[in-house]
Amino acid sequence: MDTKNVLVIGAGLSGLTCSVKLAENGNNVHLFSPSPSERSQSVMAMGGINAALNNKGQDDSPSQHYTDTINGGQEINNHTAVKKLTDDAPEIIEWLDSIGTSFTRDENGNIDQRYFGGQKKQRTAYAGARTGKQVLTAINTMLRKYEHENLVKRYIGWRFLSLILNDKGECIGAVLINEFTEEIQSFEADCVVIATGGLNKVFGKISGSLQNDAGTTARLLQQEIELANLEMIQFHPTTIKTPVKNMLITEAARGEGGRLYTIKDGEKWYFMEEWYPELGALMPRDVVSRSIYKVCNQLNLGINGENIVYLDVSFLPEETVKVKLDEVYDVCTQYLNLDPTVDPIPVYPGIHYFMGGILTDDAHKTSIKNLYAVGECSAQYHGANRLGGNSLLGAIHGGYIAAEEINSQTITSGSNDEIIRKELEKQEDKYAQWKDNQTSEYTSSYTVEEELATIMNNAMGIYRDEETLKEAMGQLEQLENEEIYSHESYYEYVLIKSLIHLSKAFIISAINRKESRGAHQRIEYPEKSDKYRKTTVIQEKNNEMIVSFNDTDKKMGW
Ligand code: FUM
Repeated sequence: MDTKNVLVIGAGLSGLTCSVKLAENGNNVHLFSPSPSERSQSVMAMGGINAALNNKGQDDSPSQHYTDTINGGQEINNHTAVKKLTDDAPEIIEWLDSIGTSFTRDENGNIDQRYFGGQKKQRTAYAGARTGKQVLTAINTMLRKYEHENLVKRYIGWRFLSLILNDKGECIGAVLINEFTEEIQSFEADCVVIATGGLNKVFGKISGSLQNDAGTTARLLQQEIELANLEMIQFHPTTIKTPVKNMLITEAARGEGGRLYTIKDGEKWYFMEEWYPELGALMPRDVVSRSIYKVCNQLNLGINGENIVYLDVSFLPEETVKVKLDEVYDVCTQYLNLDPTVDPIPVYPGIHYFMGGILTDDAHKTSIKNLYAVGECSAQYHGANRLGGNSLLGAIHGGYIAAEEINSQTITSGSNDEIIRKELEKQEDKYAQWKDNQTSEYTSSYTVEEELATIMNNAMGIYRDEETLKEAMGQLEQLENEEIYSHESYYEYVLIKSLIHLSKAFIISAINRKESRGAHQRIEYPEKSDKYRKTTVIQEKNNEMIVSFNDTDKKMGW
């Protein structure tokens, strides 16, 4: 196969994996990220990674993993992609183990596995409650070897501005900006892989990193790339609020036996165990989040009248809390001044993950030739609700699959110099216009960012209704007309403008799915409808956003 020149945009788990697998095959990789991989959101992933390893004789199999994933995703996952994901999962764990991931082991020296939500089998391999950090460290170390061999070149501090498309509409590179120096540069490539993570910044203070600012996805929308299932936003049932952000209390706390309760008639009421005797607090996340919502907002039984229930791990062996749930122990003691081996943890659902994003098929191809997307920014595996432990798996698997697909492609080259020069000039002109136009009389970008998050959190909560969604649309249109002054940088300005736009796509997607499925609950349409057992696709064409519903397993036409 011919050697390719590939841009990978994003250096968390999916981008790193893709880069390693591309370099292994002798390709040249240019790896861009706003900060070093060690600071990517992947290091925050706590609980674990799923694979039917059967290390505990639990009679598990990839097909049961497949069924749980499809049931969790309420059938709008890409089934072909999930089949590959769950079949490949044991091999992925084997690879991670072989490159030095320090998985927690059982007494026989096998990789231990714990229970996680929506799965009846112990399927989640883990490294204490710091799985993301351990996995990323192992893959990042692998990558260094290819950096030394000059197959991978890192660019830290760079953000995506635009794709470069040839006259056939195929991707031939990208324009990026260095956030620190404001240098704008074009990069020609045979393929571009987007690995920029979740759409966090649209919603402000959520459990994920605000470095995952959704900017790349927002600008791809403006370049007519298809996005999918934007309305599917996962609320993690157990987050804690701090003044700065929402923080996660990993599902592993419930996987290790932690119980959820509130106080009713002066007694502890374990509502999940009463409502769902089979899986109790380990029901899929959408179900647990809705149950907590119901306890607090419909039954008015939140602790002390607040939007809080208790997660109790205090009755577990102290070693379980301090070792297997080390990060939970640290978060509670450091941020809540609470010892979870003694006291229950106050929790409430918060936004944690975006099942939707850039539409890809099972080979991680997007709607544009030579453009791929992997990891949380892409949509294929998780449907209407992701199972805990499938995100690290999906990120690594996506990296593998996209690299494999790129390795197998034959590239046709042409002379693109003129097109590349024009796209670079276009972006430089926009920068020059912005510089000439900045005045502090305009509305500050900080204010707009906060307003945006308020509008979006209000409209896209655990339950949605048409009136609120339409009202949000009106507010976004007003915001769109605002003249914005950006304190920080040109990038900050481009970002906020494009996020307003992307927010409209979220709202339009939510309005158009007129049913309740997984993470998308519509008050006026409380039932699931077969008509919508499909992927919501949104695309901008001639300044209009067009929604359609695709077959879940549709292949890209290139
Ligand atoms: O709760 C958690 O540890 C989250 C894991 C995940 O989102 O996969």
